[in-house]
Amino acid sequence: MPKIDFTGSVAIVTGAGAGLGRCHALEFAKRGAWVVVNDLGGTRDGTGSDTAAADKVVEEIRESGGEAVPNYDNVATVEGGERIVQAAIDAFGKVDILVNNAGIIRDKTFYKMEEENWDAVVGVHLKGAYCVTRPAFANMRENGYGRIIMTTSGAGMFGNFGQSNYASAKAGLVGLANVLKLEGAKYNINTNVIIPVAGSRLTEDVLPPDLMARMKPDFVTPLVLYLCSRQCMDSGVIINAAMGYYSRTAIMTGPGAILSDGRKIPTPEEIMENWDSIMSLENPEYFDQVMTMFGKLSPLLQ
Ligand code: NAI
Repeated sequence: MPKIDFTGSVAIVTGAGAGLGRCHALEFAKRGAWVVVNDLGGTRDGTGSDTAAADKVVEEIRESGGEAVPNYDNVATVEGGERIVQAAIDAFGKVDILVNNAGIIRDKTFYKMEEENWDAVVGVHLKGAYCVTRPAFANMRENGYGRIIMTTSGAGMFGNFGQSNYASAKAGLVGLANVLKLEGAKYNINTNVIIPVAGSRLTEDVLPPDLMARMKPDFVTPLVLYLCSRQCMDSGVIINAAMGYYSRTAIMTGPGAILSDGRKIPTPEEIMENWDSIMSLENPEYFDQVMTMFGKLSPLLQ
């Protein structure tokens, strides 16, 4: 089996001062990548900052013979995103890999979700991915190569009580990846999405302590490394990873029902009558982009 090696590649990992991001950064470096360890070093809810978080991981990488530079910028601002990417270009000349990983949580039921907590969480996860990915994408486009990871979550894909802000931001990342897979294709830029579950400070009060200890971020990192390798040609896929379990999640479409000749407008009663067929997920299809879905309408366009 060919070995996955990142010698000569430059990887940015956001939020790499702890948890999953730290683990990705260490492993990229072990396999030869030059790494930008970005971390604002704030609290779990995104307040405060501390340069120690990124510094510590850079030290760990250097101690084991790897190359890394720290960056302390906030992913949630356009200037921060530009500085993170510039740090990679200044230190190593380019960006090959970007792992959007930085994250915070501010859980509340939707009824109690004030604007401040909505904006802070959407700002770090969704706008943060925009702020960092845009300048990184520009550099990758020039170089004709790139690998981008979006870190979504089960909350965004499947739902989780009390996380409307977080789930909305995380689901938004899938929309962003759906477009980047198309816009990046001709420049050899692949964008993929991971759904991790791992013990970290974000999950310390969700997972029981024994499970928390066993659900190491290390189980997620091999997936990130494979998706960021030259060997991986997939783009736009969403992969679950937890404790050694890896699987694909996809938005699929059922066979549906055709209730018109393309001219006659069906009644609500016809919708009701055909509800089982409309709802069916038997033999679902995967549409690689919206234009493929439009192809289903071709019989109605006669
Ligand atoms: P963590 O709290 O250990 O790590 C997140 C890191 O991001 C922290 O070091 C923090 O300082 C940094 N960060 C936060 N806001 C930042 C900002 N504005 N700019 C730069 N850095 C910032 O959490 P964990 O669990 O490692 O999370 C990593 C990612 O994985 C997050 O996006 C999270 O939402 C996602 N995730 C984690 C899951 C889990 O089970 N741990 C489940 C699903 C998704």
